[in-house]
Amino acid sequence: MIMATCVATPNIAFVKYWGKRDERLHLPVAGSVSMTLDETLASRTTVDFGGFPEDSFVLDGRKGEFPDVIGEIRERAGIARLKARIVSRNNFPPAAGLASSASGFAALVVAATDAAGLRLSGRDLSVLARKGSGSACRSVVGGFAEWRAGKRRDGSDSYAEQIAPARHWRGLVDLAIVLDGARKKMPSRAGMRQTVATSDLYGARVAGMAAKISECRRAIIERDAPALFALVMRESNNMHAVMLDTWPPISYMNDESRKAVCVIHELVNNGREPVCGYTFDAGPNPHIITTRRRTGGIIKALKEGGVKVRRALVCGAGDGPRIVRG
Ligand code: PMV
Repeated sequence: MIMATCVATPNIAFVKYWGKRDERLHLPVAGSVSMTLDETLASRTTVDFGGFPEDSFVLDGRKGEFPDVIGEIRERAGIARLKARIVSRNNFPPAAGLASSASGFAALVVAATDAAGLRLSGRDLSVLARKGSGSACRSVVGGFAEWRAGKRRDGSDSYAEQIAPARHWRGLVDLAIVLDGARKKMPSRAGMRQTVATSDLYGARVAGMAAKISECRRAIIERDAPALFALVMRESNNMHAVMLDTWPPISYMNDESRKAVCVIHELVNNGREPVCGYTFDAGPNPHIITTRRRTGGIIKALKEGGVKVRRALVCGAGDGPRIVRG
């Protein structure tokens, strides 16, 4: 095989990754837990090693920076001299502020290794995807995944593993709300670096991560929705608190995000009606973790609460990357 196409999807973190112990290898300070999403949002990438005079990379119709990780894949496959043509497309709503690096690097690594004739384990694929973008190592795994931070300096023990397949909890969804005028301010790489260097609260966050990860694993395995919803809200708030404690402060959430938080807290009524939980990444858009049958009521409540909902996408758990033949 000289050419391969892969479709991969983003993941939403329930326990989040914020801070690296190695910048170059994207090794995290702590572990994280996520759900890989279905193909409502997806990246489709074709890698072709079929005799081109030079390397090229086109993302959504535009020339992009050729990804470093291809060099390692070529070396391992013994095809170091073959040039690659890479074409990648996202089906994401344009300028929606929904991350595409995780799905992009997962699709890239799976397509490139297949095209190069490498048959790698899930662990090796996860390590390679991590070198492109940290959170991408979780998108290589279908369903629910834990990224183990690892201890080794070369990062060989820092990869994601499956907690449960997508079919384990079909009703669970990420209701991704695209807010009006949402724009990401600071790239996560720079933000993380600043937090690790300056936040006094960061040590307390890291100290609590192991317990949070095991509670999250338990909630997933036992399909304990009320516990999971409460955990994702507290965890997201904790991450955004250390962002605010960073100097100079980082703030990805805006007034519209905070309005959504208030609406959700009214809806869950101090935990008496555990119908959902919010979580925010490095951007202002809320991801509401809930069950599929509740999404309509939640969108209605957000709108009635004055939240400017531009788009609402319902993403269930997905099965991970797949090679598309033909
Ligand atoms: O791997 P990156 O650079 O896309 O960082 C992702 C960081 C968060 O989305 C904020 C958290 C996470 O675990 O996905």
